[in-house]
Amino acid sequence: MCGIVGYVGPKEAAPILLQGLKGLEYRGYDSAGVALLNGSGVQVVKRPGKLSALAEAVDEADPRGTCGIAHTRWATHGVPNQPNAHPHTSSDGEIALVHNGIIENAESIRMQLLEAGYVFASETDTEVVVHLIDHLWTDGMPMEDAVSAALRSIDGAYGIAVVSSRDPNKIVVARDGSPLLIGVGKNGEMLAGSDAAAVIALTRQVVYLDDGDYAVLEPEGYRTYKLEGTEVSRSMHQVTWDVEAMEKGGYEHFMLKEIFEQPASLRDVMRGRLLEEEGDVRLGGIENHEFDLGRIKRIVTMACGTSWHAGLVGEYMLEEHARIPVDVEYASEFRYRNPVLEEGTLALAISQSGETADTMAALHEAKQRGVQTMGIVNAVGSTIARYTDFGLYLHAGPEIGVASTKAFTSQMVALAMFTLYMGRRRHLSVVQGREFLEALRMLPEQVEQVLELNDEIKALAEAYGDARNFLYLGRGYQFPVALEGALKLKEVSYIHAEGYPAAEMKHGPIALIDDDMPVVVLAPRDPVYQKVVSNIEEMKARHARLIAVVSDDAPELQGRVDHLIRVPQTIPALLPVLTTVPLQLLAYHMAVQRGADVDQPRNLAKSVTVE
Ligand code: AGP
Repeated sequence: MCGIVGYVGPKEAAPILLQGLKGLEYRGYDSAGVALLNGSGVQVVKRPGKLSALAEAVDEADPRGTCGIAHTRWATHGVPNQPNAHPHTSSDGEIALVHNGIIENAESIRMQLLEAGYVFASETDTEVVVHLIDHLWTDGMPMEDAVSAALRSIDGAYGIAVVSSRDPNKIVVARDGSPLLIGVGKNGEMLAGSDAAAVIALTRQVVYLDDGDYAVLEPEGYRTYKLEGTEVSRSMHQVTWDVEAMEKGGYEHFMLKEIFEQPASLRDVMRGRLLEEEGDVRLGGIENHEFDLGRIKRIVTMACGTSWHAGLVGEYMLEEHARIPVDVEYASEFRYRNPVLEEGTLALAISQSGETADTMAALHEAKQRGVQTMGIVNAVGSTIARYTDFGLYLHAGPEIGVASTKAFTSQMVALAMFTLYMGRRRHLSVVQGREFLEALRMLPEQVEQVLELNDEIKALAEAYGDARNFLYLGRGYQFPVALEGALKLKEVSYIHAEGYPAAEMKHGPIALIDDDMPVVVLAPRDPVYQKVVSNIEEMKARHARLIAVVSDDAPELQGRVDHLIRVPQTIPALLPVLTTVPLQLLAYHMAVQRGADVDQPRNLAKSVTVE
């Protein structure tokens, strides 16, 4: 949610900043801008709309300079127009600033600055920060002192980058609640970015700032400080993926590429973790905490959106196979209702980005109440990954499509491995462990088989192209899959869709059913299969257009539904991984044929870093 890039070094900065923004465009795409120190002052170019509009404007304006900052925006305060686009500048144009986050005391600072004679050009909370820096900047002061003085007066969340012609060839960056890292390049190149995607074209060496840090970047190197002024050292990390992961690799959209990457991402999440002989898993990230895990009596999962759906699947797995009670909470609701967290509770955060503000806030609440925290996270080095006591990485590589696909299936498999780990230390025998493990091992190949249905599902999407509503139904393990199928369709195709427990339909929503309502029913062979068949009959009797996802020949459903989608059979706990994939493909093809912007759906951002 909003992306920041910065560059200082020997090269022209504009193309490097645009390339960095391209890597971050998934974080927001309402408007974008750059600011460069061009020798005589600060030159700003910004445009509403997608990055392509900015790229054209930069081409025309041809701003020069080897030090600059850039931003891609997801609007929080103020509509996405040119004045509200970042960078924002001081009234004399000598300071430029980009910001990700929300300044909570913006109004009171604005009042003070208005009294002091400042004039505002935008409706944003960000603009107060740049004027405040100007207000506090006295003659002879280095930029970092003015910036840190301003930040000490600010409440809220921020990742910022600042340049100024008053103290040129330098970028000051800071973070508190919104992500920011430094990219350490070669030959006098220093970069900054909201995440590694911003800098990966030039360097894999990154330094993650902690909350409350600021840093000074110059061609000669970087220095990191705590906000109160003490110099601190932050360690360097190596990004393990490369720039190809940020490209579409021949696919029309990132979403499709990422759907097709799932056999590989599932192999990656399991790589080196399955102990076939022992019927167990090796989970390096939690092994040192075995003692604490042994005391766990209850798990409270906190997550948002798709990650919350994975949490629900995990609840079913952990309760069935590890016999641990699990509650799955919307992170955004959790902290505001005085939750009960007794001793022996494990707070489990699930997040692809590791930056979701609601999930982070819930975790913070849990930590303050003294419970252990664990993360299941994809983005290495992200805030949630570093904040939790221990955890598991998904190793799915960067997920660029705003609609989460490969991260979801990897989250379910990570939860399955965690279930096996906990189960083997409680109730599961080695034989049961081996069965579970064998099913896990077969998943990537089975997903490959499901992907072969792509053309069939594309044709199905064409047949249902006129639909204005969709229902997704499932029971047991398939209920969260129904929720996820509906979410995918909503976010990329803008078709209204609802996921519902199949048996709950008769308690109200069945009133919606007529011959115009497509209903996707998840009916793989599992212990509730026959019950779901009865639910399908109830829909059929009311003339619904029925699509069933099954895991064998499903003789009971032959001729009873309009379309059958067949996925391979596995144990019920892992069937969600296989039944999800056709729903991802359906959402994708529905969106494409309706002309929607699949990778950058309207109003959304990939990583939601505001509460
Ligand atoms: C999924 O398709 C969504 N774009 C969204 O619901 C997402 O899962 C949610 O915002 C949570 O993100 P996280 O996994 O990065 O925390």
